[in-house]
Amino acid sequence: MANNLISTSTAATTFIVVLLSLLLAGKSQTFSTSLRRTAMPRGKQNLTHLHFFYHNVVGGPNATAIRVAEAPITNTSATGFGAVIMVDNLLTVGPEPNSTRVGRAQGMYASADLNNMSFMMVHNYVFDEERYNGSTLSILGRNPLNSPVREFPVIGGSGVFRFARGYAKARTYFLNATNRDAIVEYNIYVLHY
Ligand SMILES: *[C@@H]1O[C@H](CO)[C@@H](O)[C@H](O)[C@H]1NC(C)=O
Ligand SMILES: *[C@@H]1O[C@H](CO)[C@@H](O)[C@H](O)[C@H]1NC(C)=O
Ligand SMILES: *[C@@H]1O[C@H](CO)[C@@H](O)[C@H](O)[C@H]1NC(C)=O
Ligand SMILES: *[C@@H]1O[C@H](CO)[C@@H](O)[C@H](O)[C@H]1NC(C)=O
Ligand SMILES: *[C@@H]1O[C@H](CO)[C@@H](O)[C@H](O)[C@H]1NC(C)=O
Ligand SMILES: *[C@@H]1O[C@H](CO)[C@@H](O)[C@H](O)[C@H]1NC(C)=O
Ligand SMILES: *[C@@H]1O[C@H](CO)[C@@H](O)[C@H](O)[C@H]1NC(C)=O
Repeated sequence: MANNLISTSTAATTFIVVLLSLLLAGKSQTFSTSLRRTAMPRGKQNLTHLHFFYHNVVGGPNATAIRVAEAPITNTSATGFGAVIMVDNLLTVGPEPNSTRVGRAQGMYASADLNNMSFMMVHNYVFDEERYNGSTLSILGRNPLNSPVREFPVIGGSGVFRFARGYAKARTYFLNATNRDAIVEYNIYVLHY
């Protein structure tokens, strides 16, 4: 009988503690606050398609892709393994470099495969077209250069592209075999709020 009473009062205490913690959930803690998701309902998510050209200029006085680091084996490796190239590449609406500017691709790519030519891409695309001015998309992916179409995950964004996720498809539009300058066509599909 005494045991029953104790377990009943324990159950009641537990109930009150659970109720209190449910009521308190969402209130400020030391550094984090849980918010309701109504601020960004699922139905309001946008799917945006971006299409532009990326100008990887490695040669000449106006290069925008510059090798900044290498490994001891880079120059003897079949794939230039370990080379790190920093970029601030122009993005345009059409394939010509003098076509309307869309933004810049800033970041780096590095030879990351010992056997097959493949780069690791770490890029932030910053757009300056009116609606997207200052907004960015971040891309992190594998770029197997010999594939006609390469796909990179879009892992985030800022501004208009907050909470972004999606993918980018890249296809080489033009490659200068002499100086290795390239113009790459991008199609990006991105979900954002
Ligand atoms: C490099 O940029 C300068 C200044 O914009 C320009 O005058 C020059 O023609 C460019 N050179 C090449 C090879 O594109
Ligand atoms: C590798 O090649 C690059 C470019 O040709 C050159 O700048 C660099 O000094 C070379 N590195 C070594 C370790 O030979
Ligand atoms: C862009 O450059 C091409 C040559 O590469 C030229 O024919 C064309 O007129 C230029 N367009 C503009 C808007 O400057
Ligand atoms: C790497 O290249 C070899 C030979 O060209 C090929 O058999 C293999 O499938 C490639 N691996 C990847 C992951 O692409
Ligand atoms: C983009 O924003 C910058 C300042 O952040 C402003 O100077 C520029 O005029 C804006 N461009 C467009 C096209 O709105
Ligand atoms: C989302 O799409 C709607 C309808 O097309 C548009 O009015 C709105 O500006 C878009 N929002 C963003 C952040 O692009
Ligand atoms: C390719 O690069 C070489 C060396 O910079 C240059 O002379 C040539 O005009 C370029 N070809 C094209 C089609 O741009």
